[in-house]
Amino acid sequence: MQSRLSYVFAGIGIAVLLTAGCTPPGKPKPEITPAEVTDFSTLFSENCSGCHGVDGKYGAGRPLNDPLYLAVIPKDTLRNVIENGRKGTAMPAWARSQGGPLYPKQITALVDGIEQNWAKPVNLHGVAVPRYSAGNVPGDPAQGKKLFARDCFMCHGKGAPIGSVTDPAVLALASDQYLRTSILFGRPDFGMPSFRNLNLGRALTDQDVTDLVAYLSSMRPPNTKIAKQSEE
Ligand code: HEC
Ligand code: HEC
Repeated sequence: MQSRLSYVFAGIGIAVLLTAGCTPPGKPKPEITPAEVTDFSTLFSENCSGCHGVDGKYGAGRPLNDPLYLAVIPKDTLRNVIENGRKGTAMPAWARSQGGPLYPKQITALVDGIEQNWAKPVNLHGVAVPRYSAGNVPGDPAQGKKLFARDCFMCHGKGAPIGSVTDPAVLALASDQYLRTSILFGRPDFGMPSFRNLNLGRALTDQDVTDLVAYLSSMRPPNTKIAKQSEE
């Protein structure tokens, strides 16, 4: 049986074809030239919602309409990912300087629009917040394996209805940062909890998250050209 997560990544593949291909039949021609568009909703729905969901949630790709995520990701990192995309994944580069379609003012409109529309104050109840990226801190795959059995297996183990995240085919398409982002912020739209309660109802530490990513990353097929933890 195919897992829900294989569909997630197949869905992203279809979205790539749609965004790379011609305008779907019946879609009216835009009245203003793309370079002039600086309206956030238009930019987001034309370029991003196919993967990240209408209104930034319930898409195949992760929700961006997520106050916890936006409280932790540094604004320049958010801009950087949009400009450059993620090597080896379905996330393309959007900046013209990187071969994408958008001008700097349009990227600015997206970054500002995401923050203005979807960021909200988050009460962390004194929990220590792990960093967005692991940097050069090494992860321990053996420890990550133990944590996976304790904190993830009930939802993502073999045969679980949600889908295995240890499947090499899934890991071949997901960067280390994407795994880290998923563990940190969960999928609020589909019911995966965030780091705040993934440790049997308590919070995962920064090192726990790094170890979990090291474990998942160790099961990626060799020679996959995808960004590793230390490269973010
Ligand atoms: C074809 C599908 C697709 C489209 C279109 C797309 N994305 Fe993505 N995006 C992805 C995938 C897949 C990832 C995760 C990549 C990885 O493995 O790191 C991602 C990652 C991201 C991330 C980083 C998530 C993290 O790990 O913190 C941001 C931010 C983002 N996209 C913003 C956008 C914006 C803004 C647009 C529109 C300009 C856009 N994306 C369009 C597929 C897409
Ligand atoms: C209560 C169930 C639950 C637990 C516990 C859980 N997850 Fe998830 N996870 C989900 C759901 C639901 C999704 C969304 C699947 C989908 O998109 O259809 C998801 C998605 C993911 C994804 C893919 C992200 C995406 O955008 O689809 C990764 C990677 C992931 N989980 C890793 C983990 C890891 C590692 C742990 C343990 C630290 C964990 N999860 C614990 C339910 C859970």
